[in-house]
Amino acid sequence: QKGGYKHFMLKEIFEQPRVIADCLAGRVDRNSGRVILPELEAAEVPERLFIVACGTSYHAGLWGMYLMEQWAGIPTRVEIASELRYRDPILGPGDTVLAISQSGETADTLAGIHLAKARGARVIGLCNVVGSSVAREADLVVHTQAGPEISVASTKAMCSQLALLTLMALAFGQRKGVLPEDAAKNCVPGLEHLPAALDAALPGMRQRARELCRVYAEARSFLYLGRGLCFPLALEGALKLKEISYIHAEGYAAGEMKHGPIALIDPKFPTFALAPIDSLYPKVKSNLQEVQARGGKIIALTQPGGDLDVDHPWETPAAWGPLASFMLLPALQLFAYEMADYLGKDVDQPRNLAKSVTVE
Ligand code: F6R
Repeated sequence: QKGGYKHFMLKEIFEQPRVIADCLAGRVDRNSGRVILPELEAAEVPERLFIVACGTSYHAGLWGMYLMEQWAGIPTRVEIASELRYRDPILGPGDTVLAISQSGETADTLAGIHLAKARGARVIGLCNVVGSSVAREADLVVHTQAGPEISVASTKAMCSQLALLTLMALAFGQRKGVLPEDAAKNCVPGLEHLPAALDAALPGMRQRARELCRVYAEARSFLYLGRGLCFPLALEGALKLKEISYIHAEGYAAGEMKHGPIALIDPKFPTFALAPIDSLYPKVKSNLQEVQARGGKIIALTQPGGDLDVDHPWETPAAWGPLASFMLLPALQLFAYEMADYLGKDVDQPRNLAKSVTVE
């Protein structure tokens, strides 16, 4: 059942290359670079988008916001479902709600769908479980096709959500005629390159995660930092570590560090930084210098060509632009996994958690 892996979580992390390939199958035309999402053909390109989700799916939504804005010019907000449902949001006919849920049964996300429908907004569901409540109640549904996710901690489902959000942003940008040339040219080939590149990289990533978790196993708390697309990934890295290893971790936008959390930095409070070589790299680098100036230890996920002088640089394979996230995410997952396993925790069934949160 676990396919020779020690835990379902590890198996699911290693399935991610296949998950990306499945998300792309039949959905991209290699020659024209066009995205084919028949599920959304009936839908107009949203004028405004509200992404609604919980937990890891919320982090995927936050990540998707950057691409919806940048590639499709769609004003996008991302809402924690349990907050949205008790507000009086400015939401109505003409608006589109994108509800993201692996299980399709999360009570708060469903309540968000009901609220959106009651106010006349159109609802697109992005979910993994076919026939689930989200799939049934949304006006249109896109399936992430990640296959059953058994481990309570979500891994491959998030990967599939990011892949579909990428395709949706591309498709909307193409239809509106606003897709930047760089993305039009490089995204589809970049996506197609991912499965093989990630597959080749995963064993080495796991090895690095094993080494690092032994170095940091005494830490009682971690600060995860990232900017741009790496801010939601920092939130996700921290969530994964918390939920399965029970080590406290906080995800923060790197630029916000100086507004408070920097006070916590000392040699016993390590920072896990996301520092791919993108336009924000110099900014992240200077944040890390601030951490070092206070004696903080640093693990930094980066890419080839970087020049970080930190305790533990961790190079992930090159990938085009935003697609670097598909290399960073498994590294975050593996670090949490190896830490939890090293500390003897019940990786697949963490205490107090359920796979599908059907209560509010
Ligand atoms: C974290 C995790 C949860 C879920 C959240 C939403 O690893 O699994 O945070 O992401 O409960 O679940 P879905 O996506 O099923 O709505």
